[in-house]
Amino acid sequence: MIKVRPVVERMHGYVPGEQLRGASVVKLNTNENPYPPAPGVLAAVAACASEELRRYPDPMATPLRDAAARVYDVTPERVLVGNGSDDLLTMVMRTLVGGDDVVVYPEPTYSLYDMLVTIQEGRSLTIPFPADFTLPPALADTTGRVLIVCNPNSPSGTFTPVDVIETLVRGRDGVVVVDEAYVDFAPASALPLVARYDNVLVLRTLSKSFSLAGMRIGLAFGQPALIAALAKVKDSYNVSRVAIAAGVAALDDYAWMERNVARIVATRARLAAGLRALDYEVLPSAANFVFARRRGDDQAPVQAALRARGVLVRHFATPRLADALRITVGTDDEIDRLLAELRALR
Ligand SMILES: Cc1ncc(COP(=O)(O)O)c(C=O)c1O
Repeated sequence: MIKVRPVVERMHGYVPGEQLRGASVVKLNTNENPYPPAPGVLAAVAACASEELRRYPDPMATPLRDAAARVYDVTPERVLVGNGSDDLLTMVMRTLVGGDDVVVYPEPTYSLYDMLVTIQEGRSLTIPFPADFTLPPALADTTGRVLIVCNPNSPSGTFTPVDVIETLVRGRDGVVVVDEAYVDFAPASALPLVARYDNVLVLRTLSKSFSLAGMRIGLAFGQPALIAALAKVKDSYNVSRVAIAAGVAALDDYAWMERNVARIVATRARLAAGLRALDYEVLPSAANFVFARRRGDDQAPVQAALRARGVLVRHFATPRLADALRITVGTDDEIDRLLAELRALR
C-alpha cells in the first residue's frame, strides 16, 4: 500500500469545470473569454517554434516581468510571474503558511484556497458572506497569517470597493492577498494599495480578460521583500518560453483586451436582464460571469438538462450554492442560445 500524507488522503482534490469540447458545445462553465487573444500573441507564439526551445526559459520570466512593471507602473522588483495565478497562490501558501497557521477568507469563494491551506497543514478560518455578498464586518476582528479577499468574488461576481479593503489592510499584522482574477471587468483595482502598504499582495491573471487561460500566466504585485520570499519557493522555471513571449505580446496590446472587456460587460447586462426575465435573482456582477439564483430551487437538474442540450454552466452542490448557477458571459449568440434553452426547459 502506498502511504500518502494523511492530509492528502483526507482532502478532496480541486474539481475543475468540465472541459467538454465540440463545435456545438456552448461552454459557459469556467469563465474563459469567448474572444481570441490579440493577433500579436498568436504571432509571438508561432515565433517560439524554434530550436531555442531546447533551452530553459528565464527563471524570473524577466521580459514579461519588465513588461508588467511598465504596464502597471511599478518597479520590476514588485512583480512576480506565475504559471497562472493558481501557481502564485501555491507560492503564497508555501511561503506564509505552516502547520496550524491561520488563513482567513470570506466564503463561499474560490475553493482552491481551502485546498492549498490544507496541503500546508494550516487552518482555514472562514467568515460567511451575508446574502448580498458584501464583505462581512467580522473579518476585521480576525487575526491570521494571511487574509484573502477575492475581488470580484467567485462565484458571486460581486465587488468590494477598494476603500473597504483598505480598512482591512490598515493595521493588520498578516498579509492581505487580493485575488483580482476578474478585476479588468470591475470598476477599480487594489493595485495602488501595494505602494502604500507593505502587507498587500495583489494577484492578477491573463487567463480571463486577456483570453489566455490555456497559456497559464499570472502576475503578483507586492513589496520587494515579499516578492523575493515568494520567488524562493517557486518552481525553478515556472513559466515557459512560449508563455513569456505570449504574455509580453498580450500586455503590448492592452487596447485589444479593453475592447473585448467592453463587449463582455455589454453582454453581461443582457444576460442578467434575460435571467431576471426568467425569474432568477441575479447579483450585480463585476466579473465575466453572473450568479443567478432561484431561492430554494436546486439548480442541479437545470445544469444537467442544459448540459444534455450542449450548454455548460457551473453548479456547486454545496448548501449555500445549490440553488444557483454561475454562468460565464459568452458571445451574444452563446447567451441567446443559453436563454433560449432555459426558456425551453420551462
Ligand atoms: C478567483 C480565481 N482566482 C484564480 C484563478 C486562477 O486563474 P489562473 O488561470 O490564472 O490560474 C481563478 C480561475 O478560475 C479564479 O476564479
